[in-house]
Amino acid sequence: MAMKKIFLTEEEMPRKWYNIQADMPTPMQPPLHPQTQKPIGPEDLSAIFPMNLIEQEVSTERWIDIPEEVLEKYFIWRPSPLQRADALEKYLDTPAKIYFKNESVSPAGSHKPNTAIPQVYYNKVSGIKRLTTETGAGQWGCALSLACTLFGLECKIYMVRSSYDQKPYRQLMMKTWGGNCVPSPSPDTAFGRKMLEDDPGCTGSLGIAISEAVEDAISSPNTRYSLGSVLNHVMTHQSIIGLEAQKQMEKVNEYPDVVIGCVGGGSNFAGLSFPYVRDKIFGKEMRIVAVEPTACPTITRGPFAYDYGDTAAMTPLLPMFTLGHGFIPEPIHAGGLRYHGVSPLMSQLVLDGLIESESCNQLQAYEAGLIFARTEGLVCAPETNHAIAAVIEEAKKAREEGKAKTILFNLSGHGLMDLTGYDSFLEGKLTDYSLPESELEKSLEALKAFPKPDILPRK
Ligand SMILES: Cc1ncc(COP(=O)(O)O)c(C=O)c1O
Repeated sequence: MAMKKIFLTEEEMPRKWYNIQADMPTPMQPPLHPQTQKPIGPEDLSAIFPMNLIEQEVSTERWIDIPEEVLEKYFIWRPSPLQRADALEKYLDTPAKIYFKNESVSPAGSHKPNTAIPQVYYNKVSGIKRLTTETGAGQWGCALSLACTLFGLECKIYMVRSSYDQKPYRQLMMKTWGGNCVPSPSPDTAFGRKMLEDDPGCTGSLGIAISEAVEDAISSPNTRYSLGSVLNHVMTHQSIIGLEAQKQMEKVNEYPDVVIGCVGGGSNFAGLSFPYVRDKIFGKEMRIVAVEPTACPTITRGPFAYDYGDTAAMTPLLPMFTLGHGFIPEPIHAGGLRYHGVSPLMSQLVLDGLIESESCNQLQAYEAGLIFARTEGLVCAPETNHAIAAVIEEAKKAREEGKAKTILFNLSGHGLMDLTGYDSFLEGKLTDYSLPESELEKSLEALKAFPKPDILPRK
């Protein structure tokens, strides 16, 4: 019988994060100041982030020590298990072996606490007392509320209105951990009030919620902003997933042929895959596949361009794949994948041909989620279901080609707070949505005024 779960002991858990900036085949292009459009320096970010995190953001050190205080909190649920989806393999009648890293075992139910814990820690040692943030599906808001309560900081969360209405239990989780969660756009910020004036029924977007959280952080005492994805230091913290997975795969003498993850801002995907991208840079052959929704096809259809991370144009201009900072995606149930941009590090690795991307529609994702729930027993987050849909396609291809291969994917979160989405799917109320070309073109208009990033050759 195949081994179902592969564990690491606490002693075996990695003590350093991996920073892919040390191994990038093409140098990263700098973020630009939102007004001057010139490269920014660390000082420009200090109203938003503490200096120790800014240093990590620009660091090119390959390995970064995980502080003892962070390890102590990680041990609440880490190391997370690596699991074999042998019942799914059997159901699909495939020669492929399917493994997944189960990040749903964290108290908040996803990979997000992997960076929430260190971000709160670094803010705390800098003397910060309060953090603001945005949340889409509510997973990140829960993770930051959890981390803030563990370190004794206050937490204010701006939650995208459509998710706020869809997921009342996420709000209650945040409240239980002491977080203050409001729907965005909210009357609590000047930008939120303006959005509500223009459209009182606005369903919100991650870009709007980020603008509100940044405005609050800049205008409140002893407060900084915390971002759950996109930025370099977030990708570094999440590398714990892939570093553990490599040790666990080694224990069963396996190495993946294909690594798969879903993509919103890129953090769970980067977390699992960047340690493998490193192997690929140094000559290993494998495929590394990012899966996004057809409703928000950032990498598959957006250009690589300089763009703001938020709707109100307050963040630096980042070199990334983007659908335009004014883009408001359809309120699909995978709220965490509804972001107009994606991690600059990931974007550069896509340009370098190390990562490939594909998109998947909402119904296909839920169908995959249902198959997984009815074979492996686990009800996954709607975001994760996008990765599972791609895994199922790979496994079917292996069957058709009669080829054994090893697939590894990231089970980024459970879906126990997302059952209204499953209900809509089971009741036949969900529809597919692909972004019309005309809407995309309209949203990309704003980018014409910004500097263009260079497409640099690989070293
Ligand atoms: C369970 C889950 N998976 C994936 C994502 C997408 O975010 P990222 O691309 O940063 O991993 C989210 C975001 O909220 C999420 O909650």
